[in-house]
Amino acid sequence: NIYVCPSGEVAALAKSAVAFDPSASDLPAMAESPEQFRGQSRLPRFAEPLRYDLVLRPDLAACTFSGSASAAVAVSSPTRFLVLNAAELAVDRSSIRFQDWAPTEVAQFEEDEILVLGFDRELPLGEGVLAMDFTGTLNDQMRGFYRSKYEYNGEARNMAVTQFEAADARRCFPCWDEPAFKAKFKITLEVPAELVALSNMPVVKETVCGPLKTVYYEESPLMSTYLVAIVVGLFDYIESSTLEGTKVRVYTQVGKTSQGKFALDVGVKSLDLFKDYFATPYPLPKLDMIAIPDFAAGAMENYGLVTYRESALLYDEQLSSASNKQQVAITVAHELAHQWFGNLVTMEWWTHLWLNEGFASWVSYLAVESIFPEWNNWTQFLDETTSGLRLDALAESHPIEVDVNHASEIDAIFDSISYDKGASVIRMLQSYLGAERFQKALASYIKKYAYSNAKTEDLWAVLEEETGEPVKDLMTTWTKQQGYPVIYAKLNGQDLELEQAQFLSDGSSGPGMWIVPMTACCGSYDLNKKFLLKGKTDTMHIKDFAASQSGQNFWIKLNIDQNGFYRVKYDDELAAGLENAIKAKKLSLMDMIGIVEDSYALSVACKQTLTSLLRLLNAYRHESDYTVLSHVTSVCLSVNKISTDANPDLSSDIKQLLIKLLLLAAKRVGWDPKDGESHLDVMLRSLLLIALVKLGHDETIKEGIRRFHIFLEDRKTPLLPPDNRKAAYLAVMRTVSTSNRTGYDVLLKIYKETSEAQEKSRILGVLFFSNLCNTAQLSDELVHPINTLLFLGSLSSCPDKDIVVQALNLMLTDEVRNQDAFYVLGGISLEGREAAWAWLKDNWDHVVKTWPSSSLISDFVNSTVSPFTSEEKAAEVSEFFATRVKPSFERALKQSLERVRISARWIDSIKSEPSLAQTVQQLLLQE
Ligand code: BES
Ligand code: ZN
Repeated sequence: NIYVCPSGEVAALAKSAVAFDPSASDLPAMAESPEQFRGQSRLPRFAEPLRYDLVLRPDLAACTFSGSASAAVAVSSPTRFLVLNAAELAVDRSSIRFQDWAPTEVAQFEEDEILVLGFDRELPLGEGVLAMDFTGTLNDQMRGFYRSKYEYNGEARNMAVTQFEAADARRCFPCWDEPAFKAKFKITLEVPAELVALSNMPVVKETVCGPLKTVYYEESPLMSTYLVAIVVGLFDYIESSTLEGTKVRVYTQVGKTSQGKFALDVGVKSLDLFKDYFATPYPLPKLDMIAIPDFAAGAMENYGLVTYRESALLYDEQLSSASNKQQVAITVAHELAHQWFGNLVTMEWWTHLWLNEGFASWVSYLAVESIFPEWNNWTQFLDETTSGLRLDALAESHPIEVDVNHASEIDAIFDSISYDKGASVIRMLQSYLGAERFQKALASYIKKYAYSNAKTEDLWAVLEEETGEPVKDLMTTWTKQQGYPVIYAKLNGQDLELEQAQFLSDGSSGPGMWIVPMTACCGSYDLNKKFLLKGKTDTMHIKDFAASQSGQNFWIKLNIDQNGFYRVKYDDELAAGLENAIKAKKLSLMDMIGIVEDSYALSVACKQTLTSLLRLLNAYRHESDYTVLSHVTSVCLSVNKISTDANPDLSSDIKQLLIKLLLLAAKRVGWDPKDGESHLDVMLRSLLLIALVKLGHDETIKEGIRRFHIFLEDRKTPLLPPDNRKAAYLAVMRTVSTSNRTGYDVLLKIYKETSEAQEKSRILGVLFFSNLCNTAQLSDELVHPINTLLFLGSLSSCPDKDIVVQALNLMLTDEVRNQDAFYVLGGISLEGREAAWAWLKDNWDHVVKTWPSSSLISDFVNSTVSPFTSEEKAAEVSEFFATRVKPSFERALKQSLERVRISARWIDSIKSEPSLAQTVQQLLLQE
C-alpha cells in the first residue's frame, strides 16, 4: 500500500530554515582583561572541568550555606584566564588557588553570572586544580540551593533542596554551568547528624562529630551540572529493586511512606522497561525519588535523585483521584526516561532542549501504555498533540530548535512547543519509520553518545544511517521552522486534491512549507495509503481506492490516528462523509478526536462557521468514551465562553445545547462509582460533572451541593469520592457571593485543615499539572483538554468579583505556597476577569518580586490577559506593560495578546453568521 508521491520539489525548505550553530564562544584565550568575557552567550572552552570535589555545609536554621569546591581542569590553549559561572555567591577571594597560584584579578559579573580569574602568568597546558571557598543563602525561590518548609510533630522545620535546571547550579557552587561541560562529581555534605542527606550517588562513608555528621558520596560518572542534586531533611523511605538489582527508594515525609508505594512500583517497572527499550542498563548504582513540599516544576530528573512536588509523586487510595494516579505514573515514567534520554545522553545546548523533553514525554506514554494498557494511553497522548497544535498556531510561537543567548532565556522554552510539539513530531517520525526500526536506531544513538552530548542533527544522522530514510530533510522542516500546515482536501472526480498552507489561528496563512507524512484511508482502515507530501500541492488518485465505497459508507480520513502534526480541512462533501462515519461509529477514537479538534481550530481561525462546528459536535452526542469526550468537552467549554461574549442573546440557548450534548454520557455514568468500572469511566464521570457545573446545569449543581453537605458531615462518605470532589467544590462556589460567603469559607477551612497536597490543589484550582501550565497552558483556549477542566480553580471560579479578589489575595499569604499560585490563577471565572486584571495591576510590583521565575510570572500574565476578547482590552494591556515588560515573560505576553485579538476576530465573525440562531434551535429540538 505504499505509494510514493510522484511530484513535488524536494525540500528547499531545509535551506530556508534558520541555520543556527550555537558553537561555543570562540573568544581568544589570550584576552587582555576580564571585561572581554562579558556579554557572551557561552563560556569559552579553553579550560574545561574534568572532576569536581565539592563540600557543602548547609545551616538549616540560619538558611545559609558555606562550601569548598575544587575542580580538576584541563587547559587546552595558552591563557591567563579561567572563566566559569557563579551567581549570588560570596566567593572568598583569598581562598582562590589554581595549583599554587593566587589570581591577580578576580572579577564577578552578576549580570553575566560569570567569575573571571586572571593570573599573572600563562597557565600550563594540561590538568590543574582550581580551588575556592564560598558562602550563599538558602533562598526561598525554589531554585539553586533553597529551603523548603515542612511540619514535623506539629513543629515548623526547614529542609535544604537543590533545583539546578536550567542554569542554577551556579547559585550553589562556582562551576562551568552548561550541559556540554560534563564532569565527574564527588560530593561531601556536613549536616546535622539526625537528618537524612541524599545526593546523586550512594554514600561511601559517614563520620559523626558532635551534633554534625560528614557524609561522603561515591564519585559520579560524567554528568552535566544541571543534574547535580542534594536534599537534606527528615524523611522515611520504602525500597524495592529492579530485575537487575538496582535499589530504588521513594522518600516521603515521616509517616507517609504508604503514599509512595504506587510511584515505587511504577518506577521499578519503568526502569526495567527503559533498560530494554534503550538496550542499555540503568547507568547508576541507585535511584531515589523524593517528594519536596516546595517545588517550582512538577518534577526534576536529577541523576539518581529525582525530586517531585508532592502531588506528582504521592498516591493514596482513599484521597487521590484517578487522574492524580495517571499524573503520578506519567511523571515518574517521564523523569526516569530522562535517566537515559537527557542524563546519559545530554543535549549539547539548550537549543536542543526538546530532545530531552520531547523524548521523555513521548517515551513516558510508551512506558505507561505497557504498564497500564487499560488506560488507553496513546489516545490520551492526543492531549499533548492538541496543546502543541494550539500553541503553535500563534504567530508568536517559536521553532522547536530555538536560539538561546542568555541563561535568562532558557526557562521560557520549557513550553508546549518543546514538550508537546516535540513529543508529537517524534510520534510522527516513529509512525513513518516503523516502531521496530525506530527503537533500534534510538538504542544505537544512546550507545553512540552515552556520557556525552548530542545535537538534533546527530539524532537525525543516526536514524538516517539505520533506516536509509531521508530523516534529516523531513524532520528539519518540523524542528527548524515554527508552525505547521493545514492540508486542504478537495474531491475532484477520481482525484483527491491536496494543498498545504501554514495554519495560523488569526486566519492568515504563514509562509511555511513542510514535508508532510500523509496517510489516508477510505471507508475502512484496511484500505489505506501513505506518502510524503513534498510540495505545495499534490493529487492522490483514489479510483481503485474508493471504488468499493459508495453512498453512506463513503468517507476519507486523512492523517490516520492523528499521527501527523498537522490539521486537515475537508471540502463539504468529505466533511459530510466523516460526520456520518462518526455517527455510525466507523472511526477510531483518535480520528474522532482529530476531527473535532481540527474543526474547532478552523472555526477559531474563522475558516469555518461556529454553526458547522455545533452541527459536528452534535454528531458526538452518543459517544461514551472518555478520551473522545474530554476533547469534545474542552471544545464545548470554549464555545460556551466565546458565545457569552459574541452573542449574549443566544448564549443561554447555546449553553442548553452544549448541556444536551454531554447529558447522555453524564446520565450513563451518574454520580456514583460502579463496581468494577474502568479507570476511564471514573475519569469520565469527573470530567462530565465538572463540565456540567461549569455550563450551569441546575440538576448537577444541586446534586453537587447536596453531596458536599453530606461530605462535610462525614469526610469518608462514599457519596463524594475524591474523583467527584472538584465538581462539588465548583458547584458550591457558584452559590457564593459577597453576601453569602459560607461556601467559600467552608472550602477554605477544608483547605487549611488538610495536609494532602492533592486535596489542597483540588481546592485551590486543580490537579497538579506542572511546568506546562506556564506559558500557553492556562488559558482555556489553549489548555490540554483535561486541564481546561482541572485547572478551573475552585476558589477563584466564583462569579462574584469580590470573592475572586479574595481568592487572589489569599495567594499572597502564607496559606498558599508560592509553588501553588498557578492553581488559583487557572481558575479565574469569566465574570472575574476584569477584577483579576485590576488586581494584577495593583499588585504588579509585589508579584514580580515574589515570582521572579519565567514560568511563574508568565502564568500571571497569561491567565489574566488571555481571557479578554476585545481589541480595546488588548490595547489597554499593551499600554500597561509597555514600560514593564521583561525578557522572562515577553513571549508569554505577546502570545496572550495574540489570543485576545484572535478571540476578538472570532467574535466578529460569529456575529455575522446568518444561520447560527436557527441551527441552535433546530439542534435543541432534535431527538
Ligand atoms: N526537566 C524537567 C523539569 C524542569 C522544568 C526543570 C522546567 C526546569 C525548568 C522535568 O523533566 C519535567 O519535564 N517535568 C515535568 C513533568 C512531566 C510529567 C511533563 C514538569 O515539571 O511539569
Ligand atoms: Zn522532562
